[in-house]
Amino acid sequence: MPDTIPSIGFGFWKVAREDAADVAYQAIEAGYRHLDCAADYGNEVEVGQGIARAIADGLVTREELWVTSKLWNTFHAPQHVEEGCRKSMADLGLDYLDLYLVHFPIALEYVPIETRYPPEWVHDPEAAQPSMRRAKVPLHQTWAAMEGLVSAGLSRNIGVCNYNSGLLHDLMSYAEVKPHTLQVEAHPYLTQDKLVRLAKDYGLQVTAFSPLGALSYVELDMAGRSDSVLTEEVVQRAAEAHDKTPAQVVLRWGVQRGTSIIPKTSKSERMRENLDILDFELSDDEMEAISRLDRGQRFNDPGVFTESAFGTFHPIYD
Ligand SMILES: NC(=O)c1ccc[n+]([C@@H]2O[C@H](COP(=O)([O-])OP(=O)(O)OC[C@H]3O[C@@H](n4cnc5c(N)ncnc54)[C@H](OP(=O)(O)O)[C@@H]3O)[C@@H](O)[C@H]2O)c1
Repeated sequence: MPDTIPSIGFGFWKVAREDAADVAYQAIEAGYRHLDCAADYGNEVEVGQGIARAIADGLVTREELWVTSKLWNTFHAPQHVEEGCRKSMADLGLDYLDLYLVHFPIALEYVPIETRYPPEWVHDPEAAQPSMRRAKVPLHQTWAAMEGLVSAGLSRNIGVCNYNSGLLHDLMSYAEVKPHTLQVEAHPYLTQDKLVRLAKDYGLQVTAFSPLGALSYVELDMAGRSDSVLTEEVVQRAAEAHDKTPAQVVLRWGVQRGTSIIPKTSKSERMRENLDILDFELSDDEMEAISRLDRGQRFNDPGVFTESAFGTFHPIYD
């Protein structure tokens, strides 16, 4: 697999464990070659089973796949970074990753794998008042251990998620192995133009998570259906003009602005729909009109969800 991340990937967050093997297999069968996984998604064993079946059936070779996984917050201490990576690799059944990302710039106290895996956010779910427990691990120490994964051949590339421009400047001041990718939330309601530009200026590739915007967050009560960008007039008009669906227009906008996208779906017809966006081009006017929908609306914000869900106020963007 070349060093360039395939522009359309498949996201595994909230793919139910019992479906994940079939979903991974179907995604590869549909044509996805870039799979976005994470320890925290709780389904890497099953995704690995789907990958193994696809390889055994001759749908794809390991080398043709780009597999990303992510270091969870409780594994930030340098002595636990390799353990986190090796656990994801073992669960996925892979002897190398294409990309390993720091999932959040949030260090939490270590939870042994035997105690709970994935460890999630709360340190002790049985406590009278469950809460997160911060660990005093500077990000530069975590990064140095991430660099060790590349020299050990465990991951071909490393990168970060959910960094803002300040953290990215800081990372670039000490990184000896350059971060390959910045993965952040990006969609027409949160275009992140300055951050995307900065990452590219530094030579990073940018992956947009939650590329469809609110849709992923409705089931978590973190967004309402009315927050969906798919019903915006400019999106619907472009969909009609190009004989595509609104989702395809929004995903095409993401790719055409130079980010890779990793939409998730558990439905096989949508897998094909979300891949089928490379045979048309949005005009400059359409691109600009969709970009003008930006309203800085972030759905995945630790400053909001950590307090309500995990009893701890832990903003990172404010
Ligand atoms: N690094 C991070 O911190 C981070 C955070 C969030 C996400 N991610 C990654 O990014 C991936 C994608 O983000 P996401 O899952 O939050 O959101 P998303 O892919 O933008 O949206 C997924 C939602 O949209 C629906 N959907 C998918 N295709 C559709 C279509 N063509 N038409 C209408 N609805 C459609 C899905 O429902 P159905 O399943 O019912 O089709 C699901 O509810 C994740 O799976 C994960 O891999 C990373």
